Amino acid sequence: MTLTIGVDVGGTKVAGGVVDDTGTVLVQTRRDTPADDVGKTRDVIIEVVSELATGRQIQAVGVGAAGWIDANRSTVLFAPNLAWRDEPLQAYVSAAVELPVIVENDGNAAAWAEFRYGAARNADDSMVMFTIGTGVGGGIVLGGELVRGNNGIAAELGHMLTVPDGHQCGCGRLGCIEQYASGSALVRFARAAARQEPHRATALLELADGDAEAITGPMVTAAAKGGDPVSAEAFAQVGRWLGTSLADMAQILDPQVLVVGGGVIDAGDLLMGPTRRSFTEALAQRSRLPVAEIRPAELGNSAGVIGAADLARRI
Ligand code: BGC
Ligand code: NA
Ligand code: ZN
Repeated sequence: MTLTIGVDVGGTKVAGGVVDDTGTVLVQTRRDTPADDVGKTRDVIIEVVSELATGRQIQAVGVGAAGWIDANRSTVLFAPNLAWRDEPLQAYVSAAVELPVIVENDGNAAAWAEFRYGAARNADDSMVMFTIGTGVGGGIVLGGELVRGNNGIAAELGHMLTVPDGHQCGCGRLGCIEQYASGSALVRFARAAARQEPHRATALLELADGDAEAITGPMVTAAAKGGDPVSAEAFAQVGRWLGTSLADMAQILDPQVLVVGGGVIDAGDLLMGPTRRSFTEALAQRSRLPVAEIRPAELGNSAGVIGAADLARRI
């Protein structure tokens, strides 16, 4: 049995795991991402890999990173929500840990994991996944292969235009879907509503000690599950926007399966209900025709780790 290491570097956490050739995570570890410090982020990644590799025979390492990766799977060219600019991450990590390393986009890695082992494992050809976290990530599998594009930067689904002249995005553009369907957007919607209509948000505000600015994503999920109307509406807004982007992907690619992942899916039907409704409405013109089913991701926050490790196995 050969083992590989997968690392998932997101806006808030660096998660790592040793993964076997059935996609099972055998050991894992995690640290906070020192988000605005490129050097420290690099050190944390190296620390995580070294810890996991100690005393084990490791074949290769895959790093899933929340940014735009070059076609050689080596350099993080840009990251909307982290400080990376032309960061030669592959070179740093492979020199430090003395193992073969590939760098892959985190959304691509998660999509690959769900295609191989998760919600789309029954699909043999195609799937599209949206990951909803600090940002909105994406991954596309066609013909059983990840779509990387000519420059390595395909499937940046979070930066599709949703609202012309809308909210400022970290990528420099206005109105990307990331500003309307991310975990950050969920929190922005909930905070705004709690400020404007505090009497309707008592349950949510109680969790945040009365301070709308202290509201976090997990609080919105907990309050929504408990029936707080403002929190449920924040999920419904995210779902409405997400449904239209899923419909666009169905129109462009007509894949076998559409998957939605990220911490927000813990909200269950509070998110998936409005998402499916908006998807169906957006595709009303083809309502008699077959279309991909939308499934919640199954691998939870291990998807990035499993996908990156599985891709490293194929170097
Ligand atoms: C970045 C993607 C990344 C996603 C999720 C987006 O803002 O552009 O590269 O996959 O966030 O982390
Ligand atoms: Na991607
Ligand atoms: Zn953007």
